[in-house]
Order: sequence, then C-alpha cells, then structure tokens
Amino acid sequence: MSPDARTVASERPSDVEVSRFGELPDGRPVRQFALRNAGIQVVIIEYGAVIVSLHTPDHRGEAGDIVLGHETLDGYLQHSPYFGAVVGRYANRIAGGRFSLDGTTYQLAQNDGVNHLHGGARGFDKALWKGTPVREDGAPGVVLEYVSADGEEGYPGRLDVRVTYLLRAPGELHVRYHAVADRPTIVNLSQHSYFNLTASPRDVLGHVLEINAGRFTPVDDTLIPTGELRGVDHTPFDFRAPSAIGECIAESDHQLMVAGGYDHNFVLDRVSDRSLALAARVLEPLSRRTMEVRTTQPGVQFYSGNFLDGSVIGKGARRYAHRTGFCLETQHFPDSPNHPSFPSTVVRPGATYAEETVFSFGVED
Ligand code: GLA
Repeated sequence: MSPDARTVASERPSDVEVSRFGELPDGRPVRQFALRNAGIQVVIIEYGAVIVSLHTPDHRGEAGDIVLGHETLDGYLQHSPYFGAVVGRYANRIAGGRFSLDGTTYQLAQNDGVNHLHGGARGFDKALWKGTPVREDGAPGVVLEYVSADGEEGYPGRLDVRVTYLLRAPGELHVRYHAVADRPTIVNLSQHSYFNLTASPRDVLGHVLEINAGRFTPVDDTLIPTGELRGVDHTPFDFRAPSAIGECIAESDHQLMVAGGYDHNFVLDRVSDRSLALAARVLEPLSRRTMEVRTTQPGVQFYSGNFLDGSVIGKGARRYAHRTGFCLETQHFPDSPNHPSFPSTVVRPGATYAEETVFSFGVED
C-alpha cells in the first residue's frame, strides 16, 4: 500500500529525525522517528507503532514529557501494558474471544481471563512496523505499515494496515488509520497512550476531564458490554460538564467497582457520522496544559490507569503507580462483533477502513 497521495517521502531531515532505537531479540533493528513543530516534539518507534515520548510546554513554556513509557526497547518487550502503542487487530475486548462472520465462527486468543483483549497474545502493539518519514503540506510525519497475515491471532483474512502520525499544525498530532482486507474480517484500531499532563509522577486524579458523551456502554464483571447504552445523567460517568477524574472515582457505583475505576467506552454525541468530532477535553490545573481529542470514531474508552500498581519501572527510573496515567482510546465499541446493534466493525474486500483521531495540545492562561 502506498502512502496517501497527499503525503510525500520527507526530504528535509531537520524536522523528522530517523535513528536507531534498539534491536529485537531476533536481530531485526527498530528505528525511531522524532517529529517536531513549533509546539510539540514526539518520538515514535517501529515496534508497536509506539509513541515513546511527547514533549509539550507548560504555562511557563517549559517542555515536559506527558506520556508514560520506556527509554529502551527492552522495557517495551518486557513490561508494557500497551504504553503508547497502536492496538489491534481488534482494540478492546471480544467476549470469550469468539465471533461469527458470514456463518463461520472464529476463536481468538483468550488473553484477558476468558476474553480477547487488544488483538491477542501478539497484537499490533508487539508487531514490527515499517516506518517511512513523510511530509504533508509541509507538516512532518511518519507512515507505519504492517501486514497482518491471514489467520494471525485467529483473525480471518490478510490485513494491510497503515498508520500515519503527522504534526499538522502547532500542537496538533494527527493519527490516521487505514486498512484493507482480502477476506471479510473485523477491524478496530486505537492509540493506547497513557497521558499525565503534569509531566511528573503525580496521580492523574486532579486532571479536569470533559467527555462529549451522553451515554456509555455498561459492562459485566469481565468488562464486556451488556449491550445497553446507558444515559450518564446522575452517574459518575457524566463528564459532559468538566469534572476532575478523582471527583467521583471512589463512589460505590457498581460500574466503577467492577472496573476498579473508569475503564469504560463512552458513546460519543456526534453530529455527523464521518467527520472529526469532539471526543474529550482535558485541563491539568497545575501545569495548565490542555489536551483536546477529536475523532471520526463512534466511541472513546476512558481508562483511569487502574491496573498500574507500581510494578512497572519506566522512563527516568520512575515507578508507574496506581492511576499515574490515563488513556482516551478512540475506538468502535468493545465486543461489537457480538452486538449487531453496535456500529459495525466488519471490513470487506474492496472497502477501506479509514479513521482519524487528532490530539491537540495547548496551555490555558
Ligand atoms: C484498556 C482496557 C483496560 C486495560 C488497559 C491496559 O484500557 O480496557 O482494561 O487492559 O487497556 O492495561
């Protein structure tokens, strides 16, 4: 698959720096791509299409790294709960790892209790992608390509996947996903960065969050959606008006208790089906950093870092303690293949899976 007509191979190395990040145990090299523009610097690697670091300025103009991760490839190979990765072929969970398509039932890996999570034992987060530096209208970027073989992790059909990261405007990181299949299959791709806008080891409970969703998908005790789209009114899931992540997280709400905090898919209030629409906004009051997430996708999983328990040591020898990072994973709803009422995740030959998410970073005065 060739990159978009709009994107051309980069000729100016100054704002896309390519270097070696590490080597896989089988000897294959993994390269890193450092992109920068006026407001932001981001480093992406070919392993997992991972965002390794993301520096943005705080209100005093001091740059800080606002994502969790590792300094070495070994860190990602050994201890990474999907830090910064592109997750797929199916982001989030599929009940019992089983689904049917056109009359055939497929059994996928059960790598999260009885369920399938984030593409299985070796999902796209553990794949070696092929990176190419690009420019689009002068904006620096990298295209990462991966061919997922027919039958990989139990999924039907070969899938040619392309993820493009572009710094389109000051402070704006665009993530574009494209995929084509040679047989009917299911696809759900997402970006699994853990953010902490304090750029420090503090927890994220003081971040003020707004989610553009009047409904969410409640889950059973294995975190599979029940199928209900439940209104957020009078629940801890009402982030339509900005609210601190920690404000209601300790309430004795059944949904919060089964997930150990927030780990839920929100149904975005969209005006139209295909355009970029607001998913979420975040303000961190100490650094005054802001983040806005817009997407073409129908949902966003808000995960409050509940499984972080201090056992992973990451960048700067820092222990990632409980709730010191949060994720806003734009996506189709979990377990869609088993819920005909949810937006479809089926991709057929001849059709192109195309989604886009834009992360915009700034500061509030
Ligand atoms: C997603 C899932 C969570 C968890 C994290 C990674 O957010 O919904 O339950 O698996 O990824 O640990």
